Amino acid sequence: MKTTFNQIFSNVLELKGKTLTDVATMPQRTLQALRREAAAQVMAKLSTIRTLRIEQEKKALEIQAAKVGMSKKKPSTVELEPTKSAKPKGQAKKFSLAETFGLNVPKSVTITLNNHNPKHPLVPKADPNYVFRSSNVSDLCTFLQLEGETFMYVYGPTGCGKSSLIIEAAARMGIPLYVVTGHSRMETPELIGTYKLNKDGGMDWIPGPVTAAALEDCWVLIDEIDLLDPAAVAGLNGVTEGRSYVVPETGELIVPGPNFRIFATGNTSGAGDKTGLYQGTLQQNLAFMDRAFTAEFAYPDADVEVGILEKVAPTMLQEFRERMVKFANEIREQFINGQIEVTLSTRTLVRWARTASFYKAAWANAKGAPEPMLHAFDRSLGFRAEKESRQALHEVYQRHFGTI
Ligand SMILES: Nc1ncnc2c1ncn2[C@@H]1O[C@H](COP(=O)(O)OP(=O)(O)OP(=O)(O)O)[C@@H](O)[C@H]1O
Ligand SMILES: [Mg+2]
Repeated sequence: MKTTFNQIFSNVLELKGKTLTDVATMPQRTLQALRREAAAQVMAKLSTIRTLRIEQEKKALEIQAAKVGMSKKKPSTVELEPTKSAKPKGQAKKFSLAETFGLNVPKSVTITLNNHNPKHPLVPKADPNYVFRSSNVSDLCTFLQLEGETFMYVYGPTGCGKSSLIIEAAARMGIPLYVVTGHSRMETPELIGTYKLNKDGGMDWIPGPVTAAALEDCWVLIDEIDLLDPAAVAGLNGVTEGRSYVVPETGELIVPGPNFRIFATGNTSGAGDKTGLYQGTLQQNLAFMDRAFTAEFAYPDADVEVGILEKVAPTMLQEFRERMVKFANEIREQFINGQIEVTLSTRTLVRWARTASFYKAAWANAKGAPEPMLHAFDRSLGFRAEKESRQALHEVYQRHFGTI
C-alpha cells in the first residue's frame, strides 16, 4: 500500500511539474495539499478495488448458489406441496350383513361404507357361488369400522379363502379394488409408483397400486406379501397408517382418502415359516407387522365346506361332497404333520368337484370311461404329488370312496 501511495504521490507531483527532490524545498501547505490529493486518489482507487472485489465475491457466490441450486434441483421437487389428494367419488351406503353376505344374522346388523362406487371399472365381478363365512366377515367388518385402522393382514393356509374374501366383499359392496401379487424381487416403488418410459421417449411417473388406491379412496390388496423382502415391505410403514406421504421421486405429497384401506395376505403370520411348508416366505419387519389389524383364517368347518361344494357342484350327490371334505381334512392333517408334500385346499376341492361333475356329465353314456371322481382327483391334486405320495393319496382315497 505504501508503494501505491508513493507511486500516486509521484504521479501527482509529476502532473504539477515537480519531482520528489522539490519536496524538501516546497512550502509545507503546498506539500500537504499534494499529499491530500494523492491520499484521495489512493482512497478512490481502494474504494474501486473494494467495490470490484465485492462484485466479484457476489458473482462467485451467485455461481456457487446456482451450482448448489442445480444440484438441489431434484430434491427441490421434493418440496412438501400437497399436489395430490384423494377426491372421494363414492357414496355412503348401508349394507345388511344378512343380505349382502348371506349370513345368518338379523337384517338389522349393518355396516356403512362411504366409498360405494359400483360403476367404477375396478369393482370386481361377484361370484354368485361364493360362500361367506361369518367369522371371516366379522373380522373384515370390524376392521372396516375401526377408526384409525388402515391396514389389515390376513394369513392362513393356501386356498382357505383369504384373497377371495376381500375380492368378493369389494364386489358385493361396490368398492374399487386394486390387486397386486407380491414376489421376492418386488421393491417399494412398484407399490408406491415408478418412472416409466412414455411414447415420446421421456419418463413419466406412474402411481403404483397403493398410491392409486390412496388417491381413489378405495382398497388395495397385496397378495403373498410375506414373499417380499422385509425392507421393501417396511417402505410402506407410513402408508399403512393412512397418513399422508411424500413420493421421493416427484416430491408430491399424497393425501389418502378417508376410506383408503390396504389388505395384505400371506401364508405365515409374518414371523417366518417355522414349518418349512411355505417356501420363499420371509420373516417380516416387526414394526411393519405391528401396524396391522391381523386375522388368521383357517379352512372352513366341514359343514360350510360341504355348502361351498354344493354351490359349485349342485348335481353331485351330497354324500360325495361330504366324503370329499372328510378326505380333504385327512390330507390336510398329513400335510401339516409332514407326511405328504401336497395339501387339499378349498381351492383344490372346488376344482375337484367341478371337474368330477364335468366328467360325470360328459361320460354319462360312455362305456369303459374312467371313474370320474378319481380321474378328476388326479387332475386336481394327484398329479402334483410325487409318485409315492400319489400312491399314498390313492390309498386314502380308496378308504373314503372305495365303498361307493
Ligand atoms: N368361502 C368360499 N366360497 C367359495 N369358494 C371358496 C371359498 N373359499 C375359497 N374358495 C375357493 O378357493 C379358491 C381360493 O381361495 P383364495 O384365493 O381366497 O385362497 P387364499 O387363502 O388366498 O390362498 P393362497 O394363500 O394360496 O393365496 C377361490 O378362488 C374359490 O374357488
Ligand atoms: Mg391368496
